Amino acid sequence: MKKKILITGGAGFIGSHVVRRFVKNYPEYLVVNADKLTYAGNLENITDIESSVNYRFEKIDIVNKQAVLDLFEKYNFDGVIHLAAESHVDRSITGPDEFVFTNIIGTVNLLNAARLHWKDNPEGKLFYHISTDEVYGSLGKEGFFTEETSYDPRSPYSASKASSDHLVRAWHHTFGLPVVISNCSNNYGPNQFPEKLIPLAINNIKNSKPIPVYGKGENIRDWLFVEDHAIAIDMIFHRGKVGDTYNIGGNNEWKNIDLIRLLCSIMDKKLNREPGTSEELITYVKDRPGHDMRYAIDSSKLQNELGWSPIPEFSAGLEKTVDWYLSNTRWLERILSGEYEKYYDMMYSGR
Ligand code: NAD
Ligand code: DAU
Repeated sequence: MKKKILITGGAGFIGSHVVRRFVKNYPEYLVVNADKLTYAGNLENITDIESSVNYRFEKIDIVNKQAVLDLFEKYNFDGVIHLAAESHVDRSITGPDEFVFTNIIGTVNLLNAARLHWKDNPEGKLFYHISTDEVYGSLGKEGFFTEETSYDPRSPYSASKASSDHLVRAWHHTFGLPVVISNCSNNYGPNQFPEKLIPLAINNIKNSKPIPVYGKGENIRDWLFVEDHAIAIDMIFHRGKVGDTYNIGGNNEWKNIDLIRLLCSIMDKKLNREPGTSEELITYVKDRPGHDMRYAIDSSKLQNELGWSPIPEFSAGLEKTVDWYLSNTRWLERILSGEYEKYYDMMYSGR
């Protein structure tokens, strides 16, 4: 194998799309997916590639320093794409500690292991840290986040991601670790855990349950199809400038309530319901504490320097996503019942 690549968090939503892309497009790479399999990690996201010769799965907790060192010792990686994280803002409000452990300490453990293994020969190595636009805080009506925007995280989740970004840059400047960072806007698409807005709403509409809209539904997010994010990650990993940061976004801002209305109309069509039926499920609920008002990314650096651009038009991407959830009912049911958590034992016990 030409290169050994560690992808952390590859059983999660975005990680599973990145793992699939790398396993399929780079048969000359050995792709090692290291994941703790928290509630958000689901190996059933990647059953199609699990028996590929250039793929390995390692169940590890990145908070465990020794386990991370042992993993580097075992594989001697050439590159790291670090996605593993606690990722849900609402959970960071009810239980912030896990976010500090995984997102900050876990990242430091990976940085230290990479530094130790690459210090004598950093040439051609790369530590790629996947981050979020939430580190920049909240925008007013105007403007966009650029790579130069000052950090202003406001939730335990975004503060933990901001800390990890700072640490990654510190390891670059102080220890010369070859790093690159990208900060992306809200992703949507197949395999997203049904606690996030779009899959939660799809599932509730399907089951004629209330769709919880926080506050007045006026908060704005910039939505990007997950495979477009995976393509950007591929480009940045291979052609990004060491030490640089790239913003990734859909140039696709939606007020939550308008997005939910669009989703309702798509679902009415798909489920052969009278137009307007699903909208009746919209229920305004108590706002998220510290709810950021607006995120919007300026991704012109990535577009101009690496030639990236987002592909599907939003309603087409949303329809594709709805179709995926409606035709993968087993995937969803196994998550809702907790059955998916037994998959690892079934597939990997005794290996
Ligand atoms: P996710 O919650 O779906 O998946 C996270 C994965 O990390 C899971 O497989 C989980 O098991 C694993 N993990 C968690 N803690 C771990 C630990 N201690 N050790 C090893 N593995 C662990 O997350 P996602 O939405 O796919 O996000 C992936 C990354 O992208 C995160 O770093 C997130 O901050 C970032 N990001 C997400 C979005 C988005 O819209 N979802 C946007 C921008 C950036
Ligand atoms: O911007 C990138 C970030 O996007 C990522 O870093 C995070 O990992 C990811 O979870 C996402 O964060 P958000 O908080 O924006 O996503 P979420 O799907 O939780 O919420 C989207 C918007 O919808 C937000 O304004 C809150 C609102 N919302 C969410 C849920 C779950 C509701 O109104 N009702 C809901 O039930």
